[in-house]
Formats: sequence, C-alpha cells, structure tokens
Amino acid sequence: MSYYKIEDLQHYFKMYNKSIKEPKKFWDRIADKNFTWYQKWDKVYEFDMQKAEFKWFLNAKVNITKNCIDRHLSKRGDKTAIIFEPNDPNEEAQHITYSDLYVRVSKMGNVLRDQGVKKGDRVCIYLPMIPELAVVVLACARIGAIHSVIFAGFSSKALQTRIIDCDSKMVITSDGGFRGNKTIDLKGIVDDAVEHCPCVEKVLVVKRINSEVNMKEGRDLWIEPLLEEASSSCLAEIMDAEDPLFILYTSGSTGKPKGMVHTTAGYMVYTAYTFKNVFKYEENDVYWCTADIGWITGHSYILYGPLLNGATTVIFEGVPSYPTFSRFWEVIDKHKVTQFYTAPTAIRALAKESLEFVDNQDLSSLKVIGSVGEPINEEAWHWYNDHVGKKKCPLVDTWWQTENGGIMISPIPFVTPTKPTYASLPLPGIQPVLMDELRNEIEENQVVGSLCIKFPWPSIARTIWRDHQRFIDTYFKAYPGKYFTGDGALRDEVGYYRITGRVDDVVIVSGHNLGTAPIEDAINEHPAVAESAIVGFPHKIKGNALYGFVILKEIGETRIQDNVRKEINQSISDMVGPIAKLDKIQFVSGLPKTRSGKIMRRILRKIAEGDLSNFGDTSTLLNPEVVEEIKNERL
Ligand code: WT7
Repeated sequence: MSYYKIEDLQHYFKMYNKSIKEPKKFWDRIADKNFTWYQKWDKVYEFDMQKAEFKWFLNAKVNITKNCIDRHLSKRGDKTAIIFEPNDPNEEAQHITYSDLYVRVSKMGNVLRDQGVKKGDRVCIYLPMIPELAVVVLACARIGAIHSVIFAGFSSKALQTRIIDCDSKMVITSDGGFRGNKTIDLKGIVDDAVEHCPCVEKVLVVKRINSEVNMKEGRDLWIEPLLEEASSSCLAEIMDAEDPLFILYTSGSTGKPKGMVHTTAGYMVYTAYTFKNVFKYEENDVYWCTADIGWITGHSYILYGPLLNGATTVIFEGVPSYPTFSRFWEVIDKHKVTQFYTAPTAIRALAKESLEFVDNQDLSSLKVIGSVGEPINEEAWHWYNDHVGKKKCPLVDTWWQTENGGIMISPIPFVTPTKPTYASLPLPGIQPVLMDELRNEIEENQVVGSLCIKFPWPSIARTIWRDHQRFIDTYFKAYPGKYFTGDGALRDEVGYYRITGRVDDVVIVSGHNLGTAPIEDAINEHPAVAESAIVGFPHKIKGNALYGFVILKEIGETRIQDNVRKEINQSISDMVGPIAKLDKIQFVSGLPKTRSGKIMRRILRKIAEGDLSNFGDTSTLLNPEVVEEIKNERL
C-alpha cells in the first residue's frame, strides 16, 4: 500500500541488525533514555539458557509506578490517564487524570500497607474491569507486593487453585460486576474459594453493583471507608530490577495452571518500548485495548505499556454485544480512539452481524488497528482491515505469549507492509528461529517448523512460581539453548513469519504434517460458515484422519447441509490440498472454549476419538453445555 516507503523498511532492518549484533548497547540506550531509576545497572544482562536463568539490568533499582505515574505529573498532571467506559452506555464515562491516579494509587497503597501487606507478599485480585482494578494493581507495585490478577470470569475452584498456588494473604474483589445485561456475584465466588484457602487473612471489597453480600467478621472489609482515611502520599518501595512484579497464571489447556513470574525492570523497559513502536503512539492519542486486565494483554497493553508512555488508555467494562453489536464502534467514536487493539474471536463474532453496525459509526479517528491472541484468518483480517481500518489504518497482527511479557513479532505501522495472516517481522532484539523434528534450524521458506527464540529479551518470564523445573521442562528442554514457544510457524521469502497455530495442533495425515489453522481458514471461507475447529482422530490407513466441528451461520435443512459438507471439502482441496479433506463434518451450535476464548481442542480430540469418559481438567471451560451437545451428536 502507498503509505509505505522502502527507506523506512530499510531503516527497520538496520535497527534490527544492530539490535542483534549489539544487544547490550541496544537495550542499554533504551533503558537509559526513557525511565527514572533510583540506581542504574552494572550490567545489561546475564543468562543461562540451559538452566533457564535470566537477569536484566542487574542491580538497578526502580519502582515501576514512579515511571507510570510520578514521572508524568509535572508535564501531564492534568492529562487523562484512564478513560473508564462503563458497561451501561448511559452511565457517565470517567476521565482519570495522572494527578488523580497518583492520589488514588497512593491511598490504595497505604490501605494495603495498613492491612499488613509487605514487599514480596502476594495479593490476588479478582475484580471486574473498573478503575479500581488498575488502581489496585498499581498500588501493589507501589509497595512491592506481587500482584496476581485472576480474570473475573474464572470459577471459584479455578480462583482457589491460584490463590493457594501463590500462597496469597489477601484477595481484593468487589460486591459484583456488570456484564451486558447480567450481574455477576463476584463476592460469592470469592467466599466459596477462600473458604478453602487458609493462607488468606483479609478480603477487601470494592462496591460496584450495590448488592447484598456477606461480610465475614475479622476477614472482610469494605475498601471505600479505608481509602477515605488513607493519606494521599505513599512512599514507593525501592525495588531491585529482578524483584518479581507479578504472577500471572496462563490459561494452559492441560494440567495445573502455570504461575508465570515477571520481574520489574526488564518488563518495564520492554512493554514501554513495544507499546510506543507497535502502536505508533503519539502524545495526544487515545488508545483502547479491549482485552481484560486479567490477561497478559491487559497487563502489558492496557496498564503498564500505555501508562509508562504517559498515554490515555481506555478501560471498558462491557462486552461487544451490549446493548448492540455496534458498541465497540460507538466507543471508538465517542472517545475518538486512535489505536484499537482486539482479538480475532471478537472480530469474527462482529463480522457475523449486519454491516450496518460498523458502517454507521464514525471511525475516522482511528490510525492503527491491532489483533492478538490467535491466528487471524484471512476472511477476518480483510473484514477488520476494510470495515474498521477502512484500508487506511495499518493492521498490526501481534504475536506473543504470556511468557513473553510483550509483543514479539508484529508489523510496525507505516513501516512494515502488512500481509494478511502474517504477523510479519520480529521486533528489534527478538531472534526467532524455526526448528525441524531433528532439531535443525529450518532455512527454507514456506516450511512449517517449531517456533523458538534463540536469544533472551528483557521481559521473558523468569520462572514458574515455585516450580523452576517445570519452567525448564516446558520451555527449554525440547530445543536445547532455545526458548520453545509451542507454536508452529513458517517464513516467506521476505522473512515474514506466519504463525500456523500450536504445534500440538498439528495432525499427521498419511505422513503429511497438517496445521489445523490453514484448514480452518479454508472452511471459514465458505459463506455459510461462522467458525470451525478440526482435530485428528485415529484412522486405519492414513494414521490420522480429520474431524471438523463447524458452526453454520444458519442451521438449514439436511439437504443443504450435505451440500455445504461437499463445498467445504472442495474449499479445503482448493486452498490446502485434497490430503486435508475432512472425513467427518459435524455441525454444532458452539465450540468448547476457555474463558480466554481459546478453543479447547483437547476435548474435541477426545470426542473425535470416541473417548467420552474423561475430559481431564475442565476448570477453564466456559461452556460445558456445548460439550454435551457435541458428544450426543457425534458422528
Ligand atoms: C498463544 C499465547 C499474549 C497474547 C494473548 C494470548 C497464540 C497469540 C497470536 C497471533 C497467531 C497468536 C499463540 C501463542 N497467539 N497471538 N498474533 N497470531 N497466534 O496469550 O494466552 O499466553 O497465548 O496465543 O498460539 O502461543 P496466551
């Protein structure tokens, strides 16, 4: 497209090469220029890939909230830090300035200290998307407590597992939360969870929905009266560069959740740097990421990245479908959002609805649009690019993981020409490699391999909370000397990466490695299809055959369904090859998903195999009713 200049891309390559040749110099300059430190580092990094030990900015002393808030007060005290857009569009939005945020975080920090929280203590946070969530997270960081935000859609059992795993002495929640036309009884869920958590001494409760809740004498306290009493200045704890900042549990579809530990300085430097560059952030922009703060995307790109840059960041309490499917687009217009960052699953859901919802809103404020969380299929990419970006906003398909702390592979707006379904080029400092089954580096183009990273970056997770061996085993064993992402990818002739999906989603059919994502793309191309998932199941001759679970936009009668089956296989033949044709196609009303929106293929695999007895840990499953339906109608 016309807004790209070859010199800009050349400049990127120059920067990139420098960052690889002289990583010390590269990160040293970035860390030196943009932050306030109590004390600078003696050494930029030190690491051992075998032992999975990483240290960045050794012996530096810093507090991340000094950089998120205090640093901006002189120049941007009256600038809006957070715009809060409530669930109900008739409730007034709030504009919280950097000065307001300073006072609110200080008061909250003092409340936490008064309640006995000390540096290094874990605090679990189970709150809806309201300003207090941001304030509490930052207050923890202010006083050196390790926050562990647990997405407020998790069940009490899932919450309990996490509270116990990190041995948290406090839980912060609210009476409840609004979500579309429903309210959620968060305090009740916390009560159930905490009953079996002897480590929890205090539960602090924010008022949001004014519901009747049980307050347990000696354990539970309303937060508002405490805040009123608290002083509005709060000495920031001096943190070592490698002191833990937070623990965040990954949604992991199998086994016990992994408490990924991120530390202070490296995380700060990397999220600030990537936010500025990937979203081409400029001083008066209004940036909106629709993720929940309960996920890493929310940590890095609703809170820390934007605030470190003194940006205005939107916190949205609601859902894309309430009151109507035009809510996202109305919010963009209302607050004149300049950067919009969301997930493919949201895009596909909205693309299914009438175009009027999006076309009738004024989206002209937008400059950059982003995608994250899973591969964005070609149809969704174009819909997003055409109807939201109006073909004038670069679409940044950002690839990264909870374990990475920040964006790893992504176009840079107006620099990297975008290419549908390609996350494109690594950011400076990031060294991806593709590995084959024999653990050799793949040099060829268009060959799928395991995506690994062969050199550390500042915000790589340091460990799994109290289970370093599992950290080593999961990420550093499969390809010695490298970090293994668990994703498959290929590279085109320019060096662009296309993430093909989790490597464990690869199905080998008649000796051919087939990634599920491109086949699903081919299915989703069919105009009658809303969404699909495929898995392998054992086959006498081919080794594995493919089973497709397909959601149709409209159910239709049997004869039409049979035609759609044929056409789906034709589309797969055309786009991937006849080898990838499906043996079975079951039409379903929904797919089993985790609370973070990922398809739980493990369950589909079991159903396809005919093993209906034990689905393992389903604590992260959002919609068990769908599993029942799929089981009963299995082909
Ligand atoms: C997995 C990480 C940190 C982002 C939120 C999810 C998949 C993420 C992309 C993308 C293709 C993507 C990968 C990755 N993923 N972004 N742009 N294209 N796949 O964080 O829950 O830790 O999941 O999400 O499979 O490994 P997460």
